[in-house]
Amino acid sequence: MPVITCIDDLKTIYRRRVPKMFYDYAESGSYTESTFRENTTDFAKIKLRQKVAVDMTGRTTDSTMIGQKVAMPVGLAPVGLTGMQSADGEIKAAQAAKKFGVPFTLSTMSICSIEDVAEATQHPFWFQLYVMRDQEFLEAIIERAKRANCSALVLTLDLQILGQRHKDLKNGLSAPPKLTLPVMMDLATKWRWGLEMLQTKRRFFGNIVGHAKGVGDTSSLMSWTAEQFDPQLDWGKIARIRELWGGKLILKGINDPEDARIAADFGADAIVVSNHGGRQLDGAASSIRMLPDIVEAVGDKIEIHLDSGIRSGQDVLKALAMGAHATYIGRAFIYGLGAMGEAGVTKALEVIRKELDISMALCGERDVKNLGRHNLMIPKDFLEPYL
Ligand SMILES: Cc1cc2nc3c(=O)[nH]c(=O)nc-3n(C[C@H](O)[C@H](O)[C@H](O)COP(=O)(O)O)c2cc1C
Repeated sequence: MPVITCIDDLKTIYRRRVPKMFYDYAESGSYTESTFRENTTDFAKIKLRQKVAVDMTGRTTDSTMIGQKVAMPVGLAPVGLTGMQSADGEIKAAQAAKKFGVPFTLSTMSICSIEDVAEATQHPFWFQLYVMRDQEFLEAIIERAKRANCSALVLTLDLQILGQRHKDLKNGLSAPPKLTLPVMMDLATKWRWGLEMLQTKRRFFGNIVGHAKGVGDTSSLMSWTAEQFDPQLDWGKIARIRELWGGKLILKGINDPEDARIAADFGADAIVVSNHGGRQLDGAASSIRMLPDIVEAVGDKIEIHLDSGIRSGQDVLKALAMGAHATYIGRAFIYGLGAMGEAGVTKALEVIRKELDISMALCGERDVKNLGRHNLMIPKDFLEPYL
């Protein structure tokens, strides 16, 4: 096994092993990708306050997310088409998360179905819901998540219409890939991926194929979202979903203090400050940049989680110290999955935990729950609202 020291090492291997179409799908943002880039560059602007001569023994990253115990406050974010990054990818990632002790969130647009993951892991996971126009399908999928013992519903609010990602259109993204000449030439160098894919029967959108009626081209995420996602989603519909679900509810995709206030008044178990990893509104501020204003608005009313741009344990530390209760990684675990399957997801989690732990020690902290603004030097403009 190559020596992996950071998430970037996993990304290098991932790029070599996974078809270009799926690498590009993960490694892109919408339109000019400005928000995608700022999600990571804004983390780099925040500095950590170094402390010395503080006893650093007995450190812990143990915490909770919506009341559930976690080995570190870093969940696996829902990622569509994960089973195209590696055969049965959702099952592999869920197994890694279960063994590590962090939550795994299954996307509506996954390749392995809710039932596949439940049967393989025998462990509660979280289910992410995109709201569909088709009421019958919507009610059935919520019921399926309940039956599979999912312990939280993550309701995504920032994708009722798809932000355009140029590369996906140029690559003709689909699941499974259509075997055009450029795709076949690319696959010739990705033979390990192809062999594994031939050995699984899970190559379509598992939550949808066989469950949704009257859907045209089920291989295309683009046509599916255009046909099926409900552009009329509003707080009334969210309330109806909460009723149908009846369990823990996380609202994902909030990047504005006013929306955060509405969400807190609505009364969910947590919000995820997120701009969908820069894949939706290009030009939106990075989620770490929006975090201080959102913490100020609702920090005492609702549990605040954050994703978008986390590539290291130092990033996790910064988000927690800035007031997030917990975080998620999307691409960071996908790099691991595409590079080395389940072992790669475990490696990504290990890398992040080690970085978090060592950085905590060097900041003079022993408990992840004690991180705060005192650990940071924050650029002034982070704390001043935009006009
Ligand atoms: C390839 C890819 C697919 C995604 N699919 C979904 C999805 O199906 N549902 C969802 O709520 N978010 C989805 N997201 C957004 C992630 O849940 C998360 O918000 C984002 O990846 C966080 O940013 P990061 O990748 O910089 O960590 C996706 C992100 C990526 C990169």
